[in-house]
Amino acid sequence: MIRVLAQSAVEIRNLHKSFGHLEVLKGIDFSVDTGQVVCVIGPSGSGKSTLLRCVNLLEQPTAGQVIVEGVELTHPDVDIDAARRRVGMVFQQFNLFPHMTALQNVMIAQQRVLKRGRAEAERIARENLDKVGVGNKAGSYPAQLSGGQQQRVAIARALAMSPALMLFDEPTSALDPELVGDVLTVMRKLAEEGMTMLVVTHEMAFARDVADRVVFMDGGVIVEDGPAEQVIGSPKHERTKTFLRRVLDPTHHEI
Ligand SMILES: Nc1ncnc2c1ncn2[C@@H]1O[C@H](COP(=O)(O)OP(=O)(O)OP(=O)(O)O)[C@@H](O)[C@H]1O
Ligand SMILES: [Mg+2]
Repeated sequence: MIRVLAQSAVEIRNLHKSFGHLEVLKGIDFSVDTGQVVCVIGPSGSGKSTLLRCVNLLEQPTAGQVIVEGVELTHPDVDIDAARRRVGMVFQQFNLFPHMTALQNVMIAQQRVLKRGRAEAERIARENLDKVGVGNKAGSYPAQLSGGQQQRVAIARALAMSPALMLFDEPTSALDPELVGDVLTVMRKLAEEGMTMLVVTHEMAFARDVADRVVFMDGGVIVEDGPAEQVIGSPKHERTKTFLRRVLDPTHHEI
């Protein structure tokens, strides 16, 4: 492991990512302290998902550093699998295995990746399914669950890996409106328990209430980064104001 001096749970330094000639991230700098919740907001195509995918190395950054709990994930000599295990990710589309029950979905990576024994993996899986309120659905297959239940199983799966940091990429945007609240409640509880979280979301009420900081991205750069109240309540930059007017206007159709 390559350790560098860092106080933060995650620190991103001058991160760049290009796809061919398209430069999507143009030098991103920010950090998330242990126990903090940071929400990332911004228009479609601004690079939010790419940023999260670079943090757990689903994408290889073109330049810059990602440091998780003092371990530089972008260092050429890092044990990438070990480093990636420290970061949990929850996707918009849940990504559960359809042929496995909720319980099996939460057990499989614990057994394969962390080499936990079957009994221990099952115990931890049940604990986490209970924690997110779907303990009674352990034997159900994803197709037998609502979107909100599937997303909570996906959160349990990530938690079961004992991550140092959880990344959420628009975890509620594929859900029917009446199911959004259950997932946000679980995320709120995790935040209260001190989980370090980096959350891409369009849920401004959640960002305002739960996030310590809000980061507004546009065009592959961070335009504004500050306390949630300030960035959402009284943004400094014109681009942030325009974006917020659009997302907070109930008649908006496209962000
Ligand atoms: N694998 C890829 N290959 C080529 N271009 C990509 C790839 N992934 C993302 N892009 C491009 O990078 C840009 C940023 O995409 P990204 O998905 O990060 O945006 P986003 O902010 O998450 O948008 P949304 O709010 O719609 O999810 C887009 O122009 C997208 O087309
Ligand atoms: Mg996205």
